[in-house]
Amino acid sequence: MTEPTTPAIERTLILVKPDGVRRGLTGEILRRVEAKGYTLAAVDLQHATPDQLATHYAEHEGKPFYAPLVEFMLSGPTLAVIAEGQGVIAGFRSLAGATDPTVAAPGTIRGDMARDWGLKVQQNLVHGSDSPESAEREIAIWFPGR
Ligand code: RTP
Ligand code: MG
Repeated sequence: MTEPTTPAIERTLILVKPDGVRRGLTGEILRRVEAKGYTLAAVDLQHATPDQLATHYAEHEGKPFYAPLVEFMLSGPTLAVIAEGQGVIAGFRSLAGATDPTVAAPGTIRGDMARDWGLKVQQNLVHGSDSPESAEREIAIWFPGR
């Protein structure tokens, strides 16, 4: 008989973006991460710098939403978080919901608490790494040495 496979223990970078901090939703978002059973390994409120964001969002450079995205991310503090647990990378993206908050499913962070405000960029409350490689790259940007 085949043993059930256990997802690897991973870590991911979560950001509560400036809209989430401004709206006082950091506690609710961290509550959902912890309620799911993930562990918080680091939490730090940071005001991102242009250099930090250029590195973090390098894959989006040249896209129409890039400049407004960086402007939005510079508009206030961001809560940077390292979360750990089995399958946390996919698990947190599932908790977050679809990028476009208008169609993100109810029950998800974006589906329950974000919507399209008619702005140039999706203000969708959170970021979550999308692969183990992205997670390590992004953790090094927000938590050097971790
Ligand atoms: P994230 O990186 O923030 O976890 O979100 P994601 O993978 O779901 O989305 P991604 O495609 O990586 O885009 C990064 C962030 O850019 C903003 N965005 N705005 N058309 C738009 O207005 C648009 N498209 C992307 C969002 O803030 C998105 O989370
Ligand atoms: Mg992304």
